[in-house]
Amino acid sequence: MTDTTHTVRVTHNDAQEFVVALLKASGVSGANSLITARGLVQADLRGVESHGINRLPSYLARVRNGVLDPKADPVLSQITPVVAQVDGKNGFGFPAAHLGMQSAISMAQIFGIGMVSVKHSNHFGMSAWIVRQATDAGMMSLVFTNSSPALPVWGGKSQLMGVSPIACGAPGGNASRPFILDMAPSVAARGKIHTALRRGDKIPTDWALDVNGRPTDDPAEALKGVMLPMGGPKGSALAIMMDVFSGVLSGSAFAGGVTGPYDMSAPGDVGHFLVAIKPDLFMGLDEFRARMDVLYQRVVGSDKMDGVERIYFPGEIEQLKEEQRLADGIPYAQGEIDALNAEADKLGVARIRTMA
Ligand SMILES: NC(=O)c1ccc[n+]([C@@H]2O[C@H](COP(=O)([O-])OP(=O)(O)OC[C@H]3O[C@@H](n4cnc5c(N)ncnc54)[C@H](O)[C@@H]3O)[C@@H](O)[C@H]2O)c1
Repeated sequence: MTDTTHTVRVTHNDAQEFVVALLKASGVSGANSLITARGLVQADLRGVESHGINRLPSYLARVRNGVLDPKADPVLSQITPVVAQVDGKNGFGFPAAHLGMQSAISMAQIFGIGMVSVKHSNHFGMSAWIVRQATDAGMMSLVFTNSSPALPVWGGKSQLMGVSPIACGAPGGNASRPFILDMAPSVAARGKIHTALRRGDKIPTDWALDVNGRPTDDPAEALKGVMLPMGGPKGSALAIMMDVFSGVLSGSAFAGGVTGPYDMSAPGDVGHFLVAIKPDLFMGLDEFRARMDVLYQRVVGSDKMDGVERIYFPGEIEQLKEEQRLADGIPYAQGEIDALNAEADKLGVARIRTMA
């Protein structure tokens, strides 16, 4: 089990440099390594540790097992002026999604909207980094993906749908933060159970059922069982929605056919669905921004329930954490650092630099 008694801090630059070195030593091109490292480190900066650089040992194990091609470059085909398709060629999911969103943004800049379907991809980590790619370019976005079976459909008892996150965003106003929604359709993301297992923590009993269909606080038992959908049939329907748009539409695996990032047996064949939308299609940009300011102020200024100190806009908690971690460094359990350094030793690259 991971040593969780000691926490060490790493600057985001050092974390990124370390990830780039590991990936390049594994055969990934410099450009694709940088895109992947940025996505993973951004998750750690935002406090989404379940989808940060601790994913590397399993990603690299998939490379070593020959089920993920580190050298693959995604290929883009233009379908119509506002629609493109990316074939991820079974490379890392991050460059495939990045190319897809870049293309969606370029189309939206000219035509107001761009839609990209991505096939034969792999796990792309935290969806919010792709939403951020769009908001940084001044665009609204939808970011959908499917994923490996983990969640029963409503009324079912075995894993069928993925805990596939639904994400979307919009640039903020002049005095407000961007809107960034990024949520798994389960009560909690499955990666949070892997994090609890790594760190020796218990989990809340409403997150998952064990193989016998009983609530459990043991992450190992939860991973053998099923994740619970949020909001009953509504969470289950959102998971199916992610599969329709990302799996069925793209030509990638669907209906329980995606291989998970911890499974060494086959290519992931993950599908994504990405849309970029220009926010000033129906009014000037100044008016859009002013309206986002109004919405933000109405939301965060809303009357508070007893016991609530502050109301946050979606994505705001993560953004505040990012600001703090950019300044103070990212905390990791010593055992997590040890696991990453073991990868570095295997590949003959320098160990991760920690803050004094
Ligand atoms: N690639 C994959 O296959 C995959 C699968 C599952 C999950 N994930 C990732 O896991 C991550 C975690 O998902 P999750 O569902 O556990 O997220 P979460 O429950 O922590 O947050 C969900 C959303 O709610 C917002 N939120 C949370 N607390 C809030 C509060 N107090 N006030 C206002 N807004 C609040 C967050 O900003 C976020 O947009 C996501 O980044 C997701 O992309 C990825």
